[in-house]
Amino acid sequence: MKQHETATNVAVIGAGTMGAGIAQVCAAAGHTVTLVDVSAEALERGRKSVAKGLEKLVHKGRLGEAERDASLERLTFTGDLAAVGGAAVVIEAVFEAIAVKREVWEKLSEVATPEALLASNTSSLSLTEIAAGVAHPERFCGLHFFNPVPVLPLVEVVRALQTGAGTLERAEAFVRGLGKTPIVCDDRPGFIVNRLLIPYLNDAVHALAEGVASAEAIDSAMKLGANMPIGPLALLDLVGLDVALAAAESLHSEFGDPKFRPHPLLRQMVRAGKLGRKTGEGFFQYS
Ligand code: NAI
Repeated sequence: MKQHETATNVAVIGAGTMGAGIAQVCAAAGHTVTLVDVSAEALERGRKSVAKGLEKLVHKGRLGEAERDASLERLTFTGDLAAVGGAAVVIEAVFEAIAVKREVWEKLSEVATPEALLASNTSSLSLTEIAAGVAHPERFCGLHFFNPVPVLPLVEVVRALQTGAGTLERAEAFVRGLGKTPIVCDDRPGFIVNRLLIPYLNDAVHALAEGVASAEAIDSAMKLGANMPIGPLALLDLVGLDVALAAAESLHSEFGDPKFRPHPLLRQMVRAGKLGRKTGEGFFQYS
């Protein structure tokens, strides 16, 4: 695995699904990483997830055992936000709630170094709104990683209204150093990927509800006829129906365009607790 030419100190706030993945990728690229979370349990889960993720790369032959050990040594797990003080890059990946993010950024504004690149991994909140509560909003932007972080190559680099041009350049260089591809876009709901993907997934639910074909048939059709690597309903199960519903609701309320309106079946499935892979059942069954 390629090591970062200018290895630096990175702080990742939030050790959940995304934070752990981002921390893993940063450590594997040669950065020293501090992973911060308010929950000791989340930190422990994050530690296990990173170790498992690095182990997977060793099994696939993409990472040597010595590199794995060195990556693990570059990681620190802590509940103390003040540990962010030494970081040149700060990436926030806490719960997707504006109040939580604003509170975290208020504290981060006090402890982050004056030159640090500041980024949020939000997928549906307004970066411009988060930036309004950041002490140096010109150094702030969105770094939207995709799940699973170690696998998917894209990072949307999102320009908030306040983001400085130099910040975007720094963010792009940082993302390239992780071996990922940055794509710059403006702070608009859904950025690029979710803006295009969510209506497509929602339409698949619509087709299913109308009885156009079975779930299996809809997914096979899109794989065989449109060369999709995964069918839309299986993708919904993977993303989580609750996550997709929240994204559709957010796009719908921001744009007011009916093309983003979640189909009632999607809502009903979420109400029934059929959230996809994570609950063992969505449009398909999982054992
Ligand atoms: P998660 O629920 O797995 O993890 C969030 C973590 O933040 C939890 O461990 C929680 O303890 C921690 N946290 C909450 N408040 C905190 C605070 N004040 N200080 C420090 N840590 C705190 O969430 P997930 O899925 O990792 O999402 C995180 C962010 O990434 C959200 O903004 C989400 O929109 C975004 N995102 C999620 C994707 C996904 O597929 N799950 C994909 C791309 C972005």
